[in-house]
Amino acid sequence: MKVLWNEEIVDETEVQIDLEDRGYQFGDGLYEVIRIYDGQFFMEKEHLDRLWACADKIRLTLPFERAEFSHRLHRFAEEVGIKEGRLYFQVTRGVCKPRLHDFPDPKEVKAVLTADIQPASRPLVKQKNGIHCGFVADKRWLHCDIKSISLLGNIMALDEAKQKGFEDAVLERDGIVTEASASNLWMVKNQKLFTHPDGELVLPGITKIKLREIAQALNIELIEEPFTTTELLQADECFKTSSVAEIMPIVSIDHQKIGTGEVGTITNRLLKAYSEVIKMTVQENKSEI
Ligand code: PDD
Repeated sequence: MKVLWNEEIVDETEVQIDLEDRGYQFGDGLYEVIRIYDGQFFMEKEHLDRLWACADKIRLTLPFERAEFSHRLHRFAEEVGIKEGRLYFQVTRGVCKPRLHDFPDPKEVKAVLTADIQPASRPLVKQKNGIHCGFVADKRWLHCDIKSISLLGNIMALDEAKQKGFEDAVLERDGIVTEASASNLWMVKNQKLFTHPDGELVLPGITKIKLREIAQALNIELIEEPFTTTELLQADECFKTSSVAEIMPIVSIDHQKIGTGEVGTITNRLLKAYSEVIKMTVQENKSEI
């Protein structure tokens, strides 16, 4: 498999990650997942905006200019040639010897970039049927707005849900629903859409940005305010969003049906609109090329 390793496109077997890479030692790094539809990056600008914003938050100096980095990613995607997939990349703070907790002087360390592209088709069957989730206590740190590669809190929550036979975890902090283990979480009540506001308790999702636009276009009122687990169980509809899952209906939580227990009307309208946006974006990009 071809991967991107700093400036080079190499076979994955050629990559050498130093034992003292701070990503490996401390989980000191950031990542992004960009959807590829018909060979094109979806919402690239927003993903790069978030990367730069997160780099500022953790005082990580990115070792590239934005335009050059984008060009590098596109050149890599062209070489790999996967039409429907997802681009994963991560940037760690780099190699620092000996292991020391302190942030190194940015002049003495260079961030390490790796990226790969995996095929991924749209999850249309699951979107039709919905998934079954369970509540799990959100025990993550208080910087959930940072797209950090340190995902132990998220993967432990997912594992807890899976151990109980659920497909994903709906995270709750002191009774307030935050997000899912790797997605933002939404509910519909009385034709209105609700999701947790951005801040330190949730990741500011890129799909969430798109959903705001779609909700406005469809005249669906969106309320970005915290809601409780009880309110969610009494909701008419529920779904999660991410670049990979897109809009994924959640039809039950802790074995309790949400609404009718089937994918709801508003969720279906949003799903349809999201598919149209994907199609339109791909067409617009093509006519620009
Ligand atoms: N996950 N919240 C969390 C905790 C996430 O990990 C993600 C994304 C999201 C949704 O963000 P976006 O819409 O930008 O994909 C929300 C990615 C896909 C992952 O970890 O693979």
